[in-house]
Amino acid sequence: MVHLQTLIMSKREQLLKLREEAQLGGGADRIASQHKKGKLTARERVHFLMDEGSFEEVGSMVIHRSHDFGMEEQQFLGDGVITGYGTVNGRLVYIFSQDFTVFGGSLSETHAEKICKIMDMAMKAGAPIIGLNDSGGARIQEGVVSLGGYADIFYRNTLASGVIPQISAILGPCAGGAVYSPAITDFIMMVENTSYMFVTGPNVVKTVTHEEVTSEELGGASVHGSKSGVAQFTSPNEVACINQIKKLLSYVPENCEVKTPHLHYQPTDEVREVLKDIIPENANQPYDMREVINGVIDEGTWFEVHQNFAENIVVGFARLGGRSIGIVGNQPSQLAGCLDIHASQKAARFVRFCDCFNIPLLVFEDVPGFLPGTNQEWNAIITNGAKLLYAFCEATVPRITVITRKAYGGAYDVMNSKHIGADLNYAWPSAEIAVMGAKGAAEIIFKKVIDNANDKEAKMQEKTDEYAALFANPYRAAERGFIDEVILPEETRAKLIKGFKMLENKVANLPRKKHGNIPL
Ligand code: HXC
Repeated sequence: MVHLQTLIMSKREQLLKLREEAQLGGGADRIASQHKKGKLTARERVHFLMDEGSFEEVGSMVIHRSHDFGMEEQQFLGDGVITGYGTVNGRLVYIFSQDFTVFGGSLSETHAEKICKIMDMAMKAGAPIIGLNDSGGARIQEGVVSLGGYADIFYRNTLASGVIPQISAILGPCAGGAVYSPAITDFIMMVENTSYMFVTGPNVVKTVTHEEVTSEELGGASVHGSKSGVAQFTSPNEVACINQIKKLLSYVPENCEVKTPHLHYQPTDEVREVLKDIIPENANQPYDMREVINGVIDEGTWFEVHQNFAENIVVGFARLGGRSIGIVGNQPSQLAGCLDIHASQKAARFVRFCDCFNIPLLVFEDVPGFLPGTNQEWNAIITNGAKLLYAFCEATVPRITVITRKAYGGAYDVMNSKHIGADLNYAWPSAEIAVMGAKGAAEIIFKKVIDNANDKEAKMQEKTDEYAALFANPYRAAERGFIDEVILPEETRAKLIKGFKMLENKVANLPRKKHGNIPL
């Protein structure tokens, strides 16, 4: 009996010892080196993200199976990735967090199996999966099994797309084919100066194109947050990045079958006088569409996505009467709010995310048209503009548009017009809804009259004014029912709250198909 007791004790001790070992990852020296680089460890990141005491690890005893290059001598419990589940603000999430202190967080066969397992669990339970990436890529000692492991993850990322939200934070290196897992997920977050993403690194770039760039210049957070648009969010440090993940999660539902989080709301400030004075008298003067957005939404709830990329359009999440919504707004303070290739891509991706996850869409429109030029045409503004058009057309979530000023040409159709399925279309009295601006229109349709006039300039002005009086207003569109109501700016918030409530149980079905063929 005494002997049995000792045996039980020693088995308990064995487990406790293994647990302790697993906590240490690649060991104290490598942890110190991680900290010295200004980075948290994989475990610290998980604990900072999850609600206190909620994290449950899965697979902490997994070890690699490699026997080449003396690898059997180097075993680390967990094999370089921490996987498990827990809660963020009380809501279930699944997570994998790569541990750079173990073989540089490189992906072995078993490391990949752990990630796949946790993704499968997330899919079964219908809860978001968060990937914290910090890895030197494929485990070089393992060869093709590592490549296979990546492909297993890519496949799961694709199957999970549109079913559960997938969020990737890049908190160290992410290079080569490894970039394609985050790229398939819904959002990429990066940290300035400590994270980078590229398909081929600076050395290969130098050999092939003779360009000399650092990792940061080639694929750092600011590059991907502003130039390429690969990253939707950038942060100055890891703590800020993890806080952004928490905030993002608060706006999205657990999966595609459930509604967005709806907070308790007590109506207090429905009339917003501040909206009266935002649109300048002169229609060619810029203003910041964020002023309109902040004027309408629940105070302090604006959470902008892709803030520094394609700034001629703004997209982001907010709450309206406690309800989580997605907002797309033309930005007159950048390129006069024209739609171009990047703006179309940015907005299309956002619209599709919202539609995947039942997040109602609100559009603020002030768009003079598509950006002209060879650069745009040669780089396929046709195909890219069509992405946004397609994304709106196929979106079945509640959709409301408010035209604040210009709604010209094809861009009028594209920006969630009534014709492509918007549920409610409002316009402010300052709205101008027409084929083109009054001056351009007068130049074309009154060309002969103007050419034959003695005072060409005066005639031009007269005809411009005539066209503007007829079309630079919202009433022609309202007569046809393309605009449901012309509303005062200060009434907008109340109308939108009521509108989204009315649309709460909207049912819209697309024709039966395998899947559409969005112009990629
Ligand atoms: C195995 C790796 C590793 C890898 C790093 N390590 N990368 N072990 N496979 N891919 C190990 C190092 O040997 C070292 O072990 C520890 O991780 C830390 O690495 P350091 O080089 O000391 O760190 P640092 O100076 O910060 O440099 C980080 C790094 C560099 C830039 C990531 O390690 C590096 O260039 N690694 C190789 C990257 C690479 O070529 N990966 C394959 C890409 S191809 P010790 O024991 O000393 O701590 C790819 C294909 C994917 O990924 C295809 C998918 C379709």
